[in-house]
Amino acid sequence: MQLTDTRGVKVTITTVPGAILHTHRGQIPHDSLIGMDEGFIATSTRGIDYLVQRPQLDDYVLGMPRQAAVIYPKDAARIVALGDVGSGSRVLEAGVGSGALTCYLLKAAGPTGTVTSVERRSDFAEVARENVSRWFGGTPRSWRVSEMDLVDTTESDIPTGSQDTLILDMLAPWECLDVADRVLRAGGSLVSYVATTTQLSRLVESMRLSRRWTEPRAEESIVRTWHLDGLAVRPDHRMSGHTGFLVAARHMAPGQQSPPRRRRPAPGAYGQDYQGPGADQVEEGESG
Ligand SMILES: C[S@@+](CC[C@H](N)C(=O)[O-])C[C@H]1O[C@@H](n2cnc3c(N)ncnc32)[C@H](O)[C@@H]1O
Repeated sequence: MQLTDTRGVKVTITTVPGAILHTHRGQIPHDSLIGMDEGFIATSTRGIDYLVQRPQLDDYVLGMPRQAAVIYPKDAARIVALGDVGSGSRVLEAGVGSGALTCYLLKAAGPTGTVTSVERRSDFAEVARENVSRWFGGTPRSWRVSEMDLVDTTESDIPTGSQDTLILDMLAPWECLDVADRVLRAGGSLVSYVATTTQLSRLVESMRLSRRWTEPRAEESIVRTWHLDGLAVRPDHRMSGHTGFLVAARHMAPGQQSPPRRRRPAPGAYGQDYQGPGADQVEEGESG
């Protein structure tokens, strides 16, 4: 249950019969919360009122134990949309980290979908298992965790063309493009979350070079919450200035290559000393 005091401070607990919640502002017996409707007011022994509700997933992921950085709710929402994840989707993600995005993917794909999470660090996989199981009240039957590097997965781990959507949240997503090409169905969606512009550029150029993806789309979302108090209605002073960028593209059909770009690169897009992916496709003079 999530208890919110009149200042908006939230406490999340798992209720246990007979247990007592101790706050700085008095005690609340768990028994007085168990079985109650959401949206009721519980009063502590010092007379402080708390609004009692079940936490929503957005609250849960920001408060759950984490080992690796988690995907924030604003980005998770866009990932679900860009990946076209819905009821019955077959979704693959790597890595699982703390399992924040996993919860959104499982919720969107529902019991008729599947979510396969590949994580190369067993300590992170364990944290994700605990976080996901706590949220769903047990391990969802639609979820499978593979403790391995996505690059090392084979046909027996993830069959060719078996996935509708692949989400990559890792330092070097470009290393996984061959696997992505193998496991995604024709028309499937690849969505990658990267934290820096250098990763963004390297990933997009690698995708273009392989010609197995439609023209990548890149975006970031900036969410600004507002202070609402009488006539003092303005943006809040604090916000998450930067989380990451999202890159999304669709998978080409087997044996097909994406059409070469018709647009010439913008002047200076590829500097004289650029050595990265796609460097050999830039003609003399195009670098401006
Ligand atoms: C930033 S975390 C993922 C966070 C996660 N999306 C969440 O919302 O909690 C990145 C994870 O990717 C894992 N990782 C990096 N490269 C990988 C690879 N090639 N295969 C599998 N896991 C990988 C790391 O061990 C790390 O746990």
